[in-house]
Amino acid sequence: MSKLNLSKTWNYAAATESTNHILLKEKYDLFINGEFVKSNSKKYFDTINPATDEVIAKISEANKKDIDLAVKSAKIAFRRWSKLKAKERGKYIFRIARMIQERAKEFAVIESMDGGKPIRESRDVDIPLAANHFFYYAGWADKLEYAFPNKTPKPLGVAGQIIPWNFPLLMAAWKIAPAIACGNTVVLKPAETTSLTALKLAEIIQESGLPKGVVNIVTGAGNTGAEIVNHPDIDKIAFTGSTNVGKLIQKSISGTKKKSTLELGGKGANIIFEDAAIDQAVEGIVNAIFFNQGHVCCAGSRLFVQESVANIVIEKLKDRMSSLIVGNPLDKNTDIGAINSKEQLATINKYIKIGQEEGGEIYQSKCSISKKGNWCPPTLFLNVSQSHTIVQEEIFGPVLAIQTFRTIDEVIEKANNTPFGLSAGVWTEKGSKIFKLTQELNAGVVWANTYNKFDPTSPFGGFKESGFGREGGLHGLKAYLKFE
Ligand code: NAI
Ligand code: MG
Repeated sequence: MSKLNLSKTWNYAAATESTNHILLKEKYDLFINGEFVKSNSKKYFDTINPATDEVIAKISEANKKDIDLAVKSAKIAFRRWSKLKAKERGKYIFRIARMIQERAKEFAVIESMDGGKPIRESRDVDIPLAANHFFYYAGWADKLEYAFPNKTPKPLGVAGQIIPWNFPLLMAAWKIAPAIACGNTVVLKPAETTSLTALKLAEIIQESGLPKGVVNIVTGAGNTGAEIVNHPDIDKIAFTGSTNVGKLIQKSISGTKKKSTLELGGKGANIIFEDAAIDQAVEGIVNAIFFNQGHVCCAGSRLFVQESVANIVIEKLKDRMSSLIVGNPLDKNTDIGAINSKEQLATINKYIKIGQEEGGEIYQSKCSISKKGNWCPPTLFLNVSQSHTIVQEEIFGPVLAIQTFRTIDEVIEKANNTPFGLSAGVWTEKGSKIFKLTQELNAGVVWANTYNKFDPTSPFGGFKESGFGREGGLHGLKAYLKFE
């Protein structure tokens, strides 16, 4: 094979996004009944910039009493909000969408500071998509009878919504927009390492004039989340996060009236056939596993390459990895930012160690990494098989496990051999192969010749241990309605 010569990388001068224009308070309280109120716990915790280890602000820790207040205010607000003319509900949601757009730059910078993701991604993906979700569901608010003809859709009541740290504002939008468009009210809890953009959203919600109590945003860690799950006046739990916590939630609400949707982990198979456009596929592999440092539930963390093209794909992939820029999330050139937390970095490093101990062949691109902050270079493993821990378990980091295959039936069997069923990717020139795989892969989303593309009109969700229920599109409305 001819030697590729792509490993020379360009050196870019730093192009750091300014932080002068952002407004942050030193301390954030809870957003309950339209006001920022002090927690009864009187406790605060630090939110940290994972690229510098600096404390950005103090975040309030909500306790049982606070959750009770938030749920009560949502319950009272529900009486009027659910009866309000649907067109009026829509107007508020449109307003929130426009306000997010107006402050998109501020949101993008804060998202990257608080969570470590590259500014390119928060600017081009997270924030615009969050605004789009509000726009999309605002449009549905007064058209529910058309969405579900011959039925009388009714809201459920108070939704408790618990979200993770990988797409903080976007997950808040996924949860809040459909819920309130359908006439529900909500108590939302962001993840403890990334509360800031949800609290900035609370400011927008306050300014938008949304009736008090329709959206309550409370901060804290797992204990706070559990108080929401266990509150008797919650009618629905919407959770995105780890499979373990998803299972705990399911246990806690069994035998209650509470409805639930759970979006849990994944171990997506990204499948490259020999007839695929190889360069595009390599770009697709990079986007599938290194987007957002691999902190993506639908990441393409298992790569299956057809044997005849395996050498060339792996060689091109290694070359491409060496040109990925790891570093300051606020630099517009950065491809891979900081790992979200010290805990998550420890988890990733644990899996990298296990991968090596179990005989995997590791390749990591070289990059100079700052002493401060949490970093992990793009990593791939060869010589692994179905039984390897790193092939079976979700790592939630920039770590790819590569296997080869010969036939289409073999790859379907391997791809489905996982407790998860969230996502998959297929790269081929043949439409017939795409159709066969979309039929036979046990995954909620299958991307063809692309990966990690999201749109508010498209439902998203999983099978098996990846959870149940769909968010996005008409399916996403259904999860917040009952039909009488
Ligand atoms: P986690 O599932 O503990 O956190 C997600 C959210 O749930 C956070 O808001 C957290 O405060 C809340 N929470 C935690 N315990 C709770 C409880 N008992 N009741 C109610 N809410 C609770 O996830 P964590 O610990 O941050 O990450 C661990 C692993 O989970 C990651 O390594 C990754 O594999 C997976 N994960 C998957 C996500 C996904 O989108 N599928 C998102 C986040 C994590
Ligand atoms: Mg943080």
